[in-house]
Order: sequence, then C-alpha cells, then structure tokens
Amino acid sequence: MNIFIETYGCQMNVADSELVSSILNDHDHNIVDDIDRADVIIFNTCSVRQHAEDRVIGRINNEMSRKQTKKQLKIGVIGCMAQRLGENLKDKNNGLDFVVGVDQYKKLPEIITNLFENPDFSSETIVNNKEVYEGLYPLHTGKFNAFVTIMRGCNNFCSYCIVPYTRGRERSRPVDAIIKEIHNVSSKGFKDVTLLGQNVNSYNYENVNFAELLRKANKIETVNRIRFVTSHPKDLSDEVIEVMANSEKVCEHLHLAMQSGDNEILKRMNRGYTAEHFYNIVQKLRQAMPQIAITTDIIAGFPGETEEQFQRTFDLMNKIKFDYAFTFKYSPRTGTKAAEYTDQVPEEIRLKRLQKLIDLQQEITLQKYQDQIGMTKKIYVEKISKKSKLEVAGKSRDFKITVFPGDKSLIGKFVKVKIVDAMGWTLRGEMI
Ligand code: 5AD
Ligand code: SF4
Repeated sequence: MNIFIETYGCQMNVADSELVSSILNDHDHNIVDDIDRADVIIFNTCSVRQHAEDRVIGRINNEMSRKQTKKQLKIGVIGCMAQRLGENLKDKNNGLDFVVGVDQYKKLPEIITNLFENPDFSSETIVNNKEVYEGLYPLHTGKFNAFVTIMRGCNNFCSYCIVPYTRGRERSRPVDAIIKEIHNVSSKGFKDVTLLGQNVNSYNYENVNFAELLRKANKIETVNRIRFVTSHPKDLSDEVIEVMANSEKVCEHLHLAMQSGDNEILKRMNRGYTAEHFYNIVQKLRQAMPQIAITTDIIAGFPGETEEQFQRTFDLMNKIKFDYAFTFKYSPRTGTKAAEYTDQVPEEIRLKRLQKLIDLQQEITLQKYQDQIGMTKKIYVEKISKKSKLEVAGKSRDFKITVFPGDKSLIGKFVKVKIVDAMGWTLRGEMI
C-alpha cells in the first residue's frame, strides 16, 4: 500500500513518524510524500493544547471527502490524540478507519493489511510502559539532521500537561543501541544529530546518566554536531553544563522551558524549581559557554495567574533575553490537575498576556540577531536558499538559519562565514 503520513506537534512526533515509516516499509508498504497517491492517510497527532487537536480534526474531516472518489482509501490517527481519545475519535470523524496509540506502532502493518480485508473500524491503544521500539531504525526524512530517540514517556506530571498521560512512564533506551544509532546515521551523512526525549536530563540506563551519554556520543568520529531536546531545569546538572562546554561536538544551543517567572505559579505547575534557580542555571550556562543560544517555552494565563505574577514572567524574560521563546496561551487539558483549578483566567486576559510576551520576545530576538553581525560562524549548508538561486542556506551551531552567496557544491559541507546582516530571524553572511 502507498501510505502518506502527516505529522503534528513536537520533535518526538516527527521521530515517531520516521519510526512508523520504517515499520511500514519493513512490511512492504510504501511511504509516499504525495497525498494524492495514498491508499492510506495517517495523521500523527498532538494533544498538548486544544488548538492542536482542533486543527487535526479539521484536517481529517477535510480529507474524508477523498473517500467519495476513492472508496478504498483508509484514514487513521496515531500519536497523542489517538492515545488520549481512543475510540472516541471515531465519533468526531465519520469514516475514520483506525486509531493506534503511541505504544502500539508495531501492530500498524497488520492493522492496515486487515482493514483492506475487513473494513471494520480498528483501535489499538493499550499502554505499554516498557515499549522503546528497540531494534527498529527510523527512516529519516531530513537530509542532514537526524533525530535519535534516547527515551520515551515522562514522569514529571507538570500540572498543565497531558504528555505523562498520553506517553506513559519514562524509560531510557540502552546506551549501546543509542551510540550505535548515532554512529549509523552520522555515517550515512546526517552530521547534525539531535537526541530526543521529554526530559533528556533524567536519562539513566544501567547507571549511565545523560552527561555520560553525551561524553560517549562526543567520541563518535562520524558525527559533527550533537544537540538535545528537551531539558528540564530541575534536572539540568552542573555535570551536563560542564560536558556541554567541554565536548567539541555538543552545540552551544539549549532549549530550556521556563514556563513562568513566578514562584507560586511554578509551584502550582509542579515544576520543581524556582525563578531564582532558573536564572542561576542560565547564568551558569552563559558563563560556561558565552556564545550559547537559549530558547524557552512560556505559558501565559495559567490558572490563578495574577497581573503581578504575569509581570514577573515578563520581567524575567526581559532580564534573561532568550534567543527565542515559544509562547502559549494556557489550554486546559481534561484529566490534568490544572484543568480542575477553579480560578481559570478568562480567555481574553490569557490572550492579552500572550500578546505582550510575543511582542517582547520579537524585540529581543531582533536585537539578539543584530548582535551577531561581525561574528564568524561555521554553517552546515543544507540547501539552496528559497529566495535566491545564487545563495545557500544552513544552520550555525547555535541553530540560527544563515544565508550566504554560494552554489550547490557547498550543500552538506561546513563553511566558515562572517555575519554581515540580520534580517528578522535569518542571518546573512559572506564566505571567508
Ligand atoms: N497549555 C498551554 N501550553 C502547554 N504546554 C504544555 N501543556 C500546555 C497547556 N495545557 C506547553 C509547555 C511545554 C510546551 C511543549 O507546550 O510550555 O513546554
Ligand atoms: Fe509535560 Fe512537564 Fe513532562 Fe514536559 S516535563 S512533557 S511539560 S509533564
């Protein structure tokens, strides 16, 4: 069968779509990137906010109309929504053929094959807190950057977050399997590898912690750049900072979700750190790696957030000056603790606060990029620039898109450039 996968949400979902592609490929299915050719359409979904779910429901309902002209077409849902809503998804989408949860992807080939013989709706959402899909190697969709999943699940239960319920308990993959996979992908040409997990800093497999895993990864000759997401401030140890600073391949780039700058709200979020602790880590990181780019996630309008508490978040963002911030309006998720709080912040206030954060970060990001003018950076060239055929585009170690004059012979190479201009969120350089 020809199978088309549409992916929503975080990098973990991107990696899971690659895993699913590999599983299906191994069973003689064909992954296609043209939806018109598909016999089966799979939506890999995200539940983190209501908006993410609504968007997918809309998309699925749109694609259902294809069944009028292509009677055999099957449409299914995998990922966090599949896990959260299970069979209930069927009621939201007339004509949905299957729902498969995050721990049951090995069953997908069989489910799909069976559907063409017996077209009854099929659902597999049993939780398996041990599943790490060992021995399966994702089919990478990128050309230069590869995700390597090092752990699955989350035990943190931040009070707003649905992930621990959809992705189950935290479990780490064996060290050797991870090292082998990094070795494999980098030998194939993926020189920039991102280690993935909901909370990579709590990685632990037979007494190998995350810092040790980074040390081991740093020794792999074929890889050039190592990144990781996502880090939890409560678990980011001095040891990890030290390893980051002293490992040539580990990039000066960190995503560290702050969520709020107010201690009372952080407590109600069950985050396990204070604003002071967060600020301290940022200071340590910048001391150890002056060039580090730090990005973050912030939630506006968490239940009970007062104007003063919001202002503390705003002030801390303004003080820290992240390279980029992903800002979100709080979205209640059924089943989480925060959804039951009785002091929900009205929608219009959440929106107003969100807008303030967006405006602030835009100013900061512009300034941060301007500050890079004059610097020399090494760019991993990925493609010809979208805007001009005479230019190429790639990323710096601190994950900034940079364009500069050049041709396709540079693609896949590491090139030193001097930054001469900053246009919004893109740097412009000149080859040295
Ligand atoms: N509402 C708004 N934002 C949320 N996030 C997680 N859950 C929610 C929610 N219920 C945000 C957090 C997290 C990011 C991936 O999504 O900031 O870090
Ligand atoms: Fe959600 Fe918190 Fe786990 Fe991140 S660490 S996935 S925000 S519960």
